[in-house]
Amino acid sequence: MQIVILSGNPKQDGLCQTIIQAAHQGASCEGTLVSEIRLCDGNLIRCQVCDEGWGTCRDENVCIYGNDGFSQIQDHLRKADALILATPVYWGECSETLKCFLDRLRRCEFGTQGALSKKQALLIASAGGSGNGIVSCLNQLEQFCRHTDIQIFDRFGINRWNADYQLKAVYAAARSISEGRKTGDTVPPVPDENNRQ
Ligand SMILES: Cc1cc2nc3c(=O)[nH]c(=O)nc-3n(C[C@H](O)[C@H](O)[C@H](O)COP(=O)(O)O)c2cc1C
Repeated sequence: MQIVILSGNPKQDGLCQTIIQAAHQGASCEGTLVSEIRLCDGNLIRCQVCDEGWGTCRDENVCIYGNDGFSQIQDHLRKADALILATPVYWGECSETLKCFLDRLRRCEFGTQGALSKKQALLIASAGGSGNGIVSCLNQLEQFCRHTDIQIFDRFGINRWNADYQLKAVYAAARSISEGRKTGDTVPPVPDENNRQ
């Protein structure tokens, strides 16, 4: 299995990166290859809104400006079995870099015919002091998943006073996907004796 973490985090340390590491560790188990794409380390441009609103994204599923690194990442995501979308909360939204990338990606991978259709995803929003804006940020990521027919496995909103238990939950969710649990599977509502922590 291949799991790709698509990160909108510009920082190399801090809370958001700690959560991403927890997801990375949780997803990493035998038979699973995990990779992290740090969008902020590249020089990706925003959607150029070609022609009168649509370009090759609609008819050919490619961005005509894809040689800025976009097409390579798109290809990587197409090969993934599951995705983890992770971002700091900025202004109640995802980071600008992630939003710009997702804007282009959903045009290329729209609907049930897109290559992301039916892939599972974890959504992670890392907030600061207030925690305000987690819901709107997750909603933004959820909209992207709806447009691309990605199946949301779980959603997480983390800040400095819930990080201890949320980190464990993110780890466990990533491990569950990696071990083959599917969105919609029913599990026992309490941990069994072997998994009690
Ligand atoms: C431009 C900007 C806008 C932010 N907007 C919010 C916000 O709306 N709500 C919030 O709880 N935190 C906000 N924050 C704080 C970040 O979410 C927080 O720094 C990050 O997610 C987690 O901490 P980290 O920087 O240690 O990774 C903002 C930070 C920046 C730089």
